[in-house]
Amino acid sequence: MKVLIVGSGGREHAIAVSVAKSPRVDKIYCAPGNAGIGQLAECVDIGAMEFERLTAFAKENSVDFVIVGMDDPLVGGLVDVLEAEGIRCFGPRKNAAILEGSKAFSKDLMKKYKIPTAAYENFDDPGEAVRYLEERADYPVVLKADGLALGKGVLICNTKEEALAGVRTIMEDKQFGAAGDRMVIEEFITGPEVSVLSFVDGKTIRIMTSAQDHKRAQDGDRGLNTGGMGTFSPSPFYTAEVDAFCREHIYQATVDAMAAEGRPFKGVIFFGLMLTPAGPRVLEYNARFGDPEAQVVLPRMKNDIIEVMEACVDGTLDKIELEFEDNAAVCVVLASQGYPVSYEKGFKITGLERFEGEEGYFCFHAGTKRTEEGIVTNGGRVLGITAKGSTLLEARANAYGAAEWVRFDNKYMRHDIGRAIDEVRE
Ligand code: AMP
Ligand code: GLY
Repeated sequence: MKVLIVGSGGREHAIAVSVAKSPRVDKIYCAPGNAGIGQLAECVDIGAMEFERLTAFAKENSVDFVIVGMDDPLVGGLVDVLEAEGIRCFGPRKNAAILEGSKAFSKDLMKKYKIPTAAYENFDDPGEAVRYLEERADYPVVLKADGLALGKGVLICNTKEEALAGVRTIMEDKQFGAAGDRMVIEEFITGPEVSVLSFVDGKTIRIMTSAQDHKRAQDGDRGLNTGGMGTFSPSPFYTAEVDAFCREHIYQATVDAMAAEGRPFKGVIFFGLMLTPAGPRVLEYNARFGDPEAQVVLPRMKNDIIEVMEACVDGTLDKIELEFEDNAAVCVVLASQGYPVSYEKGFKITGLERFEGEEGYFCFHAGTKRTEEGIVTNGGRVLGITAKGSTLLEARANAYGAAEWVRFDNKYMRHDIGRAIDEVRE
Protein backbone atom coordinates (compact mmCIF):
# COMPACT_ATOMS: atom_id res chain seq x y z
CA MET A 1 0.00 0.00 0.00
CA LYS A 2 1.16 3.52 -0.83
CA VAL A 3 0.17 6.15 1.75
CA LEU A 4 0.30 9.95 1.48
CA ILE A 5 0.28 11.97 4.72
CA VAL A 6 -0.69 15.66 4.45
CA GLY A 7 0.98 18.00 6.94
CA SER A 8 4.38 19.00 8.26
CA GLY A 9 4.38 19.00 12.06
CA GLY A 10 5.28 16.76 14.97
CA ARG A 11 1.79 15.27 14.76
CA GLU A 12 2.37 14.16 11.16
CA HIS A 13 5.77 12.74 12.17
CA ALA A 14 4.06 10.69 14.90
CA ILE A 15 1.43 9.51 12.39
CA ALA A 16 4.21 8.58 9.95
CA VAL A 17 6.05 6.53 12.60
CA SER A 18 2.84 4.58 13.32
CA VAL A 19 2.07 4.12 9.61
CA ALA A 20 5.61 2.86 8.99
CA LYS A 21 5.01 0.06 11.54
CA SER A 22 2.09 -1.32 9.52
CA PRO A 23 3.05 -4.43 7.57
CA ARG A 24 0.52 -3.36 4.92
CA VAL A 25 2.48 -0.25 3.95
CA ASP A 26 5.42 -0.30 1.57
CA LYS A 27 5.75 3.37 0.63
CA ILE A 28 5.00 6.60 2.51
CA TYR A 29 4.86 10.07 0.96
CA CYS A 30 4.40 13.23 2.99
CA ALA A 31 3.36 16.64 1.69
CA PRO A 32 5.13 18.84 2.55
CA GLY A 33 6.73 16.95 5.50
CA ASN A 34 9.90 17.96 7.35
CA ALA A 35 13.45 16.70 7.91
CA GLY A 36 12.43 14.04 10.44
CA ILE A 37 9.53 12.72 8.40
CA GLY A 38 11.99 12.55 5.48
CA GLN A 39 13.84 9.75 7.31
CA LEU A 40 10.93 7.37 6.79
CA ALA A 41 8.91 8.94 3.99
CA GLU A 42 9.51 10.65 0.68
CA CYS A 43 8.67 14.32 1.26
CA VAL A 44 7.05 16.11 -1.67
CA ASP A 45 7.11 19.86 -1.96
CA ILE A 46 3.35 20.47 -2.15
CA GLY A 47 1.55 22.60 0.43
CA ALA A 48 -1.36 21.21 2.44
CA MET A 49 -3.77 23.73 0.85
CA GLU A 50 -2.76 22.96 -2.76
CA PHE A 51 -5.68 20.60 -3.35
CA GLU A 52 -5.27 20.23 -7.12
CA ARG A 53 -1.56 19.46 -6.92
CA LEU A 54 -2.13 16.98 -4.08
CA THR A 55 -4.83 15.20 -6.07
CA ALA A 56 -2.68 15.08 -9.21
CA PHE A 57 0.27 13.75 -7.20
CA ALA A 58 -1.87 11.04 -5.58
CA LYS A 59 -3.19 9.91 -8.97
CA GLU A 60 0.16 9.97 -10.77
CA ASN A 61 1.83 7.97 -8.01
CA SER A 62 -1.04 5.50 -7.50
CA VAL A 63 -1.47 6.47 -3.85
CA ASP A 64 -3.90 4.06 -2.18
CA PHE A 65 -4.68 6.00 0.98
CA VAL A 66 -4.36 9.63 2.05
CA ILE A 67 -4.22 10.71 5.72
CA VAL A 68 -4.96 14.39 6.30
CA GLY A 69 -3.35 15.45 9.59
CA MET A 70 -4.02 19.20 9.67
CA ASP A 71 -7.15 21.24 10.37
CA ASP A 72 -6.98 23.80 7.54
CA PRO A 73 -7.19 21.35 4.62
CA LEU A 74 -9.89 19.33 6.41
CA VAL A 75 -12.05 22.38 7.05
CA GLY A 76 -11.34 23.54 3.47
CA GLY A 77 -12.63 20.26 2.00
CA LEU A 78 -9.53 18.37 0.86
CA VAL A 79 -11.17 15.03 1.63
CA ASP A 80 -14.12 15.86 -0.65
CA VAL A 81 -11.76 16.84 -3.49
CA LEU A 82 -9.72 13.63 -3.18
CA GLU A 83 -12.79 11.41 -2.86
CA ALA A 84 -14.31 12.98 -5.98
CA GLU A 85 -11.30 11.57 -7.82
CA GLY A 86 -11.80 8.14 -6.30
CA ILE A 87 -8.93 8.39 -3.80
CA ARG A 88 -9.47 6.78 -0.40
CA CYS A 89 -8.92 9.20 2.38
CA PHE A 90 -8.84 9.29 6.20
CA GLY A 91 -10.40 12.42 7.67
CA PRO A 92 -13.80 14.13 7.81
CA ARG A 93 -15.45 15.68 4.78
CA LYS A 94 -15.96 19.43 4.76
CA ASN A 95 -19.54 19.21 6.06
CA ALA A 96 -18.29 17.27 9.12
CA ALA A 97 -14.99 19.11 9.69
CA ILE A 98 -17.17 22.14 10.49
CA LEU A 99 -17.29 20.59 13.98
CA GLU A 100 -13.86 22.23 14.39
CA GLY A 101 -14.20 24.88 11.69
CA SER A 102 -17.05 26.78 13.34
CA LYS A 103 -17.34 27.20 17.09
CA ALA A 104 -20.85 28.66 16.63
CA PHE A 105 -21.85 25.47 14.79
CA SER A 106 -20.39 23.21 17.48
CA LYS A 107 -22.04 25.17 20.31
CA ASP A 108 -25.44 25.03 18.58
CA LEU A 109 -24.98 21.30 18.00
CA MET A 110 -24.21 20.72 21.68
CA LYS A 111 -27.19 22.79 22.77
CA LYS A 112 -29.58 21.02 20.38
CA TYR A 113 -28.42 17.54 21.44
CA LYS A 114 -27.95 18.36 25.14
CA ILE A 115 -24.20 17.67 25.20
CA PRO A 116 -22.71 19.33 28.31
CA THR A 117 -20.84 22.54 27.50
CA ALA A 118 -20.48 26.09 28.87
CA ALA A 119 -23.52 28.39 28.41
CA TYR A 120 -23.10 30.77 25.43
CA GLU A 121 -24.57 33.13 22.84
CA ASN A 122 -23.52 33.50 19.17
CA PHE A 123 -23.11 36.90 17.51
CA ASP A 124 -22.80 38.00 13.85
CA ASP A 125 -23.00 41.68 14.67
CA PRO A 126 -20.50 43.52 16.91
CA GLY A 127 -23.19 46.01 18.00
CA GLU A 128 -25.31 43.20 19.41
CA ALA A 129 -22.31 41.66 21.16
CA VAL A 130 -21.58 45.02 22.81
CA ARG A 131 -25.22 45.45 23.92
CA TYR A 132 -25.17 41.94 25.38
CA LEU A 133 -21.94 42.58 27.31
CA GLU A 134 -23.22 45.95 28.61
CA GLU A 135 -26.10 44.13 30.29
CA ARG A 136 -24.11 41.16 31.51
CA ALA A 137 -23.16 41.19 35.22
CA ASP A 138 -21.16 38.01 35.29
CA TYR A 139 -17.37 38.24 34.65
CA PRO A 140 -14.90 36.80 33.62
CA VAL A 141 -16.40 35.90 30.26
CA VAL A 142 -14.85 34.07 27.30
CA LEU A 143 -14.84 35.43 23.73
CA LYS A 144 -14.14 33.07 20.85
CA ALA A 145 -13.64 33.83 17.18
CA ASP A 146 -15.89 31.42 15.25
CA GLY A 147 -13.33 30.06 12.78
CA LEU A 148 -9.82 28.59 12.79
CA ALA A 149 -7.31 30.93 14.42
CA LEU A 150 -4.28 28.73 15.20
CA GLY A 151 -5.61 28.22 18.73
CA LYS A 152 -5.32 31.96 19.40
CA GLY A 153 -8.90 33.11 18.83
CA VAL A 154 -9.97 32.67 22.47
CA LEU A 155 -9.92 35.68 24.82
CA ILE A 156 -10.60 35.33 28.55
CA CYS A 157 -11.86 38.73 29.70
CA ASN A 158 -11.89 39.56 33.40
CA THR A 159 -13.91 42.78 33.15
CA LYS A 160 -16.56 44.39 30.95
CA GLU A 161 -13.92 46.79 29.58
CA GLU A 162 -11.67 43.92 28.52
CA ALA A 163 -14.60 42.15 26.90
CA LEU A 164 -15.64 45.26 24.96
CA ALA A 165 -12.05 45.61 23.75
CA GLY A 166 -12.13 41.92 22.82
CA VAL A 167 -15.17 42.43 20.58
CA ARG A 168 -13.21 45.12 18.73
CA THR A 169 -10.16 42.84 18.40
CA ILE A 170 -12.13 39.91 17.03
CA MET A 171 -15.03 41.43 15.07
CA GLU A 172 -13.86 44.91 14.02
CA ASP A 173 -10.06 44.86 13.79
CA LYS A 174 -10.32 41.28 12.51
CA GLN A 175 -7.13 40.24 14.26
CA PHE A 176 -7.98 36.61 13.43
CA GLY A 177 -9.20 37.43 9.92
CA ALA A 178 -12.48 36.01 8.65
CA ALA A 179 -12.50 33.67 11.68
CA GLY A 180 -13.89 36.73 13.51
CA ASP A 181 -16.90 37.32 11.26
CA ARG A 182 -18.89 35.53 13.94
CA MET A 183 -18.16 35.19 17.62
CA VAL A 184 -19.20 33.06 20.57
CA ILE A 185 -19.51 34.64 24.02
CA GLU A 186 -19.27 31.94 26.63
CA GLU A 187 -19.55 31.40 30.36
CA PHE A 188 -16.15 31.11 32.11
CA ILE A 189 -15.74 27.66 33.64
CA THR A 190 -12.87 26.14 35.64
CA GLY A 191 -11.18 22.81 36.21
CA PRO A 192 -8.40 20.61 34.82
CA GLU A 193 -8.35 20.22 31.04
CA VAL A 194 -8.08 16.82 29.39
CA SER A 195 -7.70 15.92 25.72
CA VAL A 196 -9.50 12.78 24.55
CA LEU A 197 -8.91 11.59 21.00
CA SER A 198 -11.18 9.09 19.28
CA PHE A 199 -11.58 7.22 16.00
CA VAL A 200 -15.02 7.53 14.39
CA ASP A 201 -16.54 5.77 11.35
CA GLY A 202 -19.74 7.79 11.00
CA LYS A 203 -21.64 5.78 13.61
CA THR A 204 -19.23 3.93 15.91
CA ILE A 205 -16.70 5.70 18.14
CA ARG A 206 -13.61 4.20 19.77
CA ILE A 207 -11.90 6.23 22.48
CA MET A 208 -8.11 6.42 22.68
CA THR A 209 -6.16 6.87 25.90
CA SER A 210 -6.36 10.33 27.50
CA ALA A 211 -3.74 13.09 27.34
CA GLN A 212 -3.08 16.55 28.67
CA ASP A 213 -1.49 19.54 26.92
CA HIS A 214 0.47 22.50 28.32
CA LYS A 215 -0.50 25.46 26.15
CA ARG A 216 1.27 28.34 27.89
CA ALA A 217 4.84 29.26 26.97
CA GLN A 218 6.33 29.38 30.48
CA ASP A 219 6.63 27.17 33.55
CA GLY A 220 3.69 27.30 35.93
CA ASP A 221 1.27 27.89 33.03
CA ARG A 222 2.37 31.50 32.67
CA GLY A 223 3.08 33.48 29.52
CA LEU A 224 1.43 33.47 26.12
CA ASN A 225 -0.63 30.70 24.58
CA THR A 226 1.31 28.50 22.17
CA GLY A 227 0.52 25.57 19.90
CA GLY A 228 1.47 23.36 22.88
CA MET A 229 4.73 23.08 24.86
CA GLY A 230 4.35 19.47 25.89
CA THR A 231 1.93 16.68 26.72
CA PHE A 232 1.57 13.59 28.81
CA SER A 233 -0.60 10.50 28.64
CA PRO A 234 -2.62 9.18 30.35
CA SER A 235 -4.10 12.03 32.41
CA PRO A 236 -4.50 11.13 36.09
CA PHE A 237 -7.54 13.43 36.14
CA TYR A 238 -9.31 11.19 33.63
CA THR A 239 -10.75 8.76 36.15
CA ALA A 240 -13.11 5.85 35.51
CA GLU A 241 -15.93 8.07 36.76
CA VAL A 242 -15.11 10.84 34.27
CA ASP A 243 -14.82 8.25 31.51
CA ALA A 244 -18.24 6.80 32.34
CA PHE A 245 -19.85 10.26 32.34
CA CYS A 246 -18.34 11.14 28.97
CA ARG A 247 -19.37 7.86 27.42
CA GLU A 248 -22.93 8.41 28.61
CA HIS A 249 -23.32 12.09 27.73
CA ILE A 250 -20.65 13.23 25.27
CA TYR A 251 -18.89 10.78 22.93
CA GLN A 252 -21.60 8.74 21.23
CA ALA A 253 -23.99 11.70 21.56
CA THR A 254 -21.65 13.80 19.40
CA VAL A 255 -21.31 11.12 16.73
CA ASP A 256 -25.09 10.55 16.67
CA ALA A 257 -25.75 14.30 16.52
CA MET A 258 -23.50 14.72 13.48
CA ALA A 259 -25.17 11.77 11.74
CA ALA A 260 -28.64 13.15 12.54
CA GLU A 261 -27.63 16.48 11.00
CA GLY A 262 -26.67 14.71 7.75
CA ARG A 263 -22.98 15.28 8.47
CA PRO A 264 -21.63 11.82 9.31
CA PHE A 265 -18.17 12.21 10.85
CA LYS A 266 -15.36 9.87 9.79
CA GLY A 267 -11.89 10.44 11.17
CA VAL A 268 -10.56 11.63 14.51
CA ILE A 269 -12.70 13.63 16.91
CA PHE A 270 -10.61 15.37 19.56
CA PHE A 271 -12.68 16.27 22.62
CA GLY A 272 -11.21 19.19 24.55
CA LEU A 273 -12.78 18.62 27.98
CA MET A 274 -12.81 20.70 31.14
CA LEU A 275 -13.50 18.75 34.33
CA THR A 276 -15.56 21.32 36.23
CA PRO A 277 -16.89 20.89 39.77
CA ALA A 278 -20.30 20.28 38.12
CA GLY A 279 -18.90 17.54 35.86
CA PRO A 280 -17.10 17.28 32.50
CA ARG A 281 -17.90 19.92 29.85
CA VAL A 282 -16.84 20.09 26.21
CA LEU A 283 -14.61 23.16 25.69
CA GLU A 284 -14.05 22.49 22.03
CA TYR A 285 -13.97 19.86 19.33
CA ASN A 286 -11.14 19.34 16.87
CA ALA A 287 -11.51 17.25 13.73
CA ARG A 288 -8.00 15.74 13.83
CA PHE A 289 -5.29 14.43 16.14
CA GLY A 290 -3.94 17.00 18.60
CA ASP A 291 -0.42 18.33 18.26
CA PRO A 292 1.42 17.46 20.55
CA GLU A 293 -1.21 14.99 21.89
CA ALA A 294 -0.56 12.58 18.99
CA GLN A 295 3.09 12.43 20.08
CA VAL A 296 2.15 10.76 23.40
CA VAL A 297 -1.00 8.86 22.40
CA LEU A 298 0.13 7.12 19.19
CA PRO A 299 3.38 5.69 20.59
CA ARG A 300 1.27 3.89 23.21
CA MET A 301 -1.23 2.43 20.71
CA LYS A 302 -0.79 -1.27 19.96
CA ASN A 303 -3.17 -1.49 16.96
CA ASP A 304 -2.11 -1.28 13.33
CA ILE A 305 -3.08 2.33 12.61
CA ILE A 306 -3.84 1.61 8.96
CA GLU A 307 -6.29 -1.13 9.93
CA VAL A 308 -8.08 1.27 12.31
CA MET A 309 -8.15 4.12 9.78
CA GLU A 310 -9.47 1.87 7.01
CA ALA A 311 -12.22 0.68 9.38
CA CYS A 312 -13.19 4.34 9.88
CA VAL A 313 -13.46 4.84 6.12
CA ASP A 314 -15.33 1.54 5.56
CA GLY A 315 -17.73 1.93 8.50
CA THR A 316 -16.48 -1.23 10.23
CA LEU A 317 -14.99 0.27 13.39
CA ASP A 318 -17.41 -1.82 15.48
CA LYS A 319 -15.17 -4.81 14.62
CA ILE A 320 -12.10 -3.16 16.18
CA GLU A 321 -11.04 -2.78 19.80
CA LEU A 322 -8.31 -0.27 20.48
CA GLU A 323 -5.45 -1.39 22.68
CA PHE A 324 -2.98 0.80 24.51
CA GLU A 325 0.15 -0.13 26.42
CA ASP A 326 -0.22 -0.10 30.20
CA ASN A 327 2.39 2.61 30.67
CA ALA A 328 2.80 6.37 30.27
CA ALA A 329 4.44 8.82 27.88
CA VAL A 330 5.63 12.41 28.17
CA CYS A 331 6.47 14.76 25.28
CA VAL A 332 8.66 17.82 25.94
CA VAL A 333 8.65 20.36 23.11
CA LEU A 334 12.03 21.92 22.30
CA ALA A 335 11.25 25.37 20.94
CA SER A 336 13.22 28.36 19.70
CA GLN A 337 13.84 31.05 22.34
CA GLY A 338 11.23 33.79 21.77
CA TYR A 339 8.45 31.49 20.53
CA PRO A 340 5.51 32.20 20.11
CA VAL A 341 6.35 35.83 19.28
CA SER A 342 9.61 36.11 17.34
CA TYR A 343 12.63 33.85 17.08
CA GLU A 344 15.61 33.10 14.87
CA LYS A 345 15.86 30.05 12.64
CA GLY A 346 18.63 28.19 10.86
CA PHE A 347 20.63 26.85 13.85
CA LYS A 348 22.30 23.47 13.41
CA ILE A 349 20.80 20.65 15.50
CA THR A 350 23.13 17.99 16.92
CA GLY A 351 22.54 14.78 18.84
CA LEU A 352 19.61 13.51 16.78
CA GLU A 353 21.39 10.20 16.05
CA ARG A 354 21.31 9.41 19.78
CA PHE A 355 17.65 8.33 19.35
CA GLU A 356 18.42 5.60 16.82
CA GLY A 357 17.60 2.18 18.23
CA GLU A 358 16.52 3.60 21.62
CA GLU A 359 13.38 1.64 22.47
CA GLY A 360 10.68 3.87 23.98
CA TYR A 361 12.28 7.17 22.92
CA PHE A 362 11.12 9.32 20.00
CA CYS A 363 12.36 12.55 18.52
CA PHE A 364 9.46 13.99 16.54
CA HIS A 365 10.37 16.84 14.22
CA ALA A 366 8.16 19.92 13.86
CA GLY A 367 10.12 22.96 12.62
CA THR A 368 13.26 21.44 11.10
CA LYS A 369 14.87 21.56 7.65
CA ARG A 370 17.62 19.57 5.97
CA THR A 371 20.40 21.73 4.51
CA GLU A 372 23.91 21.06 3.22
CA GLU A 373 25.29 21.47 6.76
CA GLY A 374 22.77 19.03 8.18
CA ILE A 375 19.43 19.47 9.95
CA VAL A 376 18.70 23.02 11.17
CA THR A 377 15.93 24.73 13.15
CA ASN A 378 13.13 26.04 10.94
CA GLY A 379 10.27 27.08 13.22
CA GLY A 380 9.05 28.05 16.68
CA ARG A 381 8.40 24.52 17.84
CA VAL A 382 11.43 22.57 16.64
CA LEU A 383 11.25 19.05 18.11
CA GLY A 384 9.00 17.01 20.39
CA ILE A 385 10.97 14.62 22.62
CA THR A 386 8.76 11.74 23.73
CA ALA A 387 9.72 9.04 26.19
CA LYS A 388 7.75 6.23 27.73
CA GLY A 389 7.99 4.93 31.27
CA SER A 390 6.09 2.51 33.45
CA THR A 391 4.62 5.51 35.32
CA LEU A 392 4.19 9.17 34.43
CA LEU A 393 6.97 10.08 36.84
CA GLU A 394 9.36 7.70 35.11
CA ALA A 395 8.27 8.83 31.65
CA ARG A 396 8.85 12.45 32.66
CA ALA A 397 12.36 11.71 33.95
CA ASN A 398 13.14 9.81 30.74
CA ALA A 399 11.79 12.60 28.50
CA TYR A 400 13.76 15.31 30.29
CA GLY A 401 16.87 13.13 30.14
CA ALA A 402 16.47 12.69 26.39
CA ALA A 403 15.76 16.41 25.92
CA GLU A 404 19.44 16.92 26.87
CA TRP A 405 20.66 14.63 24.08
CA VAL A 406 19.75 17.26 21.51
CA ARG A 407 21.52 20.62 21.17
CA PHE A 408 20.91 23.76 19.15
CA ASP A 409 21.41 27.47 19.76
CA ASN A 410 18.47 29.27 21.45
CA LYS A 411 16.90 26.00 22.59
CA TYR A 412 13.97 26.64 24.95
CA MET A 413 11.69 24.26 26.85
CA ARG A 414 9.37 24.20 29.81
CA HIS A 415 10.64 22.27 32.83
CA ASP A 416 7.30 21.27 34.32
CA ILE A 417 5.64 19.16 31.64
CA GLY A 418 3.68 16.43 33.40
CA ARG A 419 3.91 18.11 36.80
CA ALA A 420 0.12 17.96 37.09
CA ILE A 421 0.71 14.44 38.33
CA ASP A 422 2.26 15.85 41.45
CA GLU A 423 -1.17 17.26 42.27
CA VAL A 424 -2.80 13.84 41.95
CA ARG A 425 -0.16 11.59 43.51
CA GLU A 426 0.05 8.26 41.78
P1 AMP B 1 -10.34 26.40 22.90
O1 AMP B 1 -9.52 26.76 21.68
O2 AMP B 1 -11.78 26.61 22.75
O3 AMP B 1 -9.96 25.05 23.48
O4 AMP B 1 -9.83 27.41 24.02
C1 AMP B 1 -8.46 27.59 24.31
C2 AMP B 1 -8.27 27.60 25.80
O5 AMP B 1 -9.03 28.65 26.39
C3 AMP B 1 -8.75 26.33 26.48
O6 AMP B 1 -7.77 25.34 26.44
C4 AMP B 1 -9.04 26.83 27.87
O7 AMP B 1 -7.86 26.89 28.64
C5 AMP B 1 -9.54 28.23 27.65
N1 AMP B 1 -11.02 28.26 27.60
C6 AMP B 1 -11.81 28.07 26.51
N2 AMP B 1 -13.11 28.16 26.83
C7 AMP B 1 -13.16 28.42 28.15
C8 AMP B 1 -14.24 28.63 29.09
N3 AMP B 1 -15.52 28.60 28.71
N4 AMP B 1 -13.91 28.87 30.38
C9 AMP B 1 -12.62 28.91 30.76
N5 AMP B 1 -11.58 28.73 29.95
C10 AMP B 1 -11.83 28.49 28.65
N1 GLY C 1 -2.83 20.54 21.32
C1 GLY C 1 -4.02 21.19 20.96
C2 GLY C 1 -4.37 21.10 19.55
O1 GLY C 1 -3.82 20.32 18.79
O2 GLY C 1 -5.26 21.84 19.14
